[in-house]
Amino acid sequence: MNVHTYEKVWLIGAMVLIVGFIVTITYGSVGLGIAMVDDSEETIEPSELDEDERFADPRVEQVGENEYEAYVVAQTFIFQPDPIEVPSGSEVTFYVTSPDVIHSFSIVGTNVNTMVIPGEVATMTVEFDEAGEYGVVCNEYCGSGHHTMEGELHVVPDEEFDMTELSVEADDEVETGDEATIEVEVENRMLEALETAVTLEIGDETLEEDVTIDGGETETTTFTIDSADLGEGDHDWTVTVDDYEDSGTLTVTDELEEDDDE
Ligand code: CUA
Repeated sequence: MNVHTYEKVWLIGAMVLIVGFIVTITYGSVGLGIAMVDDSEETIEPSELDEDERFADPRVEQVGENEYEAYVVAQTFIFQPDPIEVPSGSEVTFYVTSPDVIHSFSIVGTNVNTMVIPGEVATMTVEFDEAGEYGVVCNEYCGSGHHTMEGELHVVPDEEFDMTELSVEADDEVETGDEATIEVEVENRMLEALETAVTLEIGDETLEEDVTIDGGETETTTFTIDSADLGEGDHDWTVTVDDYEDSGTLTVTDELEEDDDE
C-alpha cells in the first residue's frame, strides 16, 4: 500500500497529539498530587458543630514544633476565628467546615481556595513564608450577606508569634476595709512552656507575679488588694501579660448601696 507522504505526516502528528493529551491528563490528575473533594473523607454533622471538639471552639492549635492546625468555621456571613493568626515559616493545616450552607474559604492572593460544604471538612496544608495580612473571602454565593462575608488571616513573624489568652475576673465594687480580688487567667496554647509575669497596676500600686505556664495549660494568678489602702472612689486597673492587656475599674465605697435601706 502506498501512503502519501503528507498523509503519513498528518497521521504521525495526530498520534503524537493523542499520546500527548493522555500523558498531560494523567500527569495532571495523578502526578501533581492534587486531591479533589470526594466523599471518602470523614463527614460531620453540620447541626452539631457546637459539640464537636474541633469546631466547638474555632481556633489555631500548635501540634508540632513547626506545625499548626487551624479549625475554621465558615457560616452566614462570617469566618471564625477572625482574625486567624498563624506564624510564618510553619506548616499550617486548615480544617474548614460549615454549619449551614455552601461557602468557600479563599485566602486572597494565595492559591488557598476551597469550597466549604456542610457535613464535610475541607483540609489543606499551607506554609506562609512571609509575614503579612491577608483577606479571607467567600467565593460561593451563600445568601443576602454573601458580599460582606470576609475575614482576615494574620501571618505573624515566627519570633513574635504566641498563643496566649488572657482573661480577667475582677470585683466591681467593694466596701472600704474589705479586700478586692482580681483573678487573672492566662492560657498558653503553645506546646512550649511560657515564662512570663502578670502585672497589675491599680492606683499607685504595681503588683507583679512571675508565672510559668506549661504548654496547653492555664494558670490563675489572684491579686488581693486592701481597699483601705486605695481609699474611697473609683480606681482604674490594668492587667498586663506580655503584649496582652485588660483593664477595668474598681469602686471602693464607704457603704455598699444594698446596705443603705437597712
Ligand atoms: Cu459565604 Cu458567600
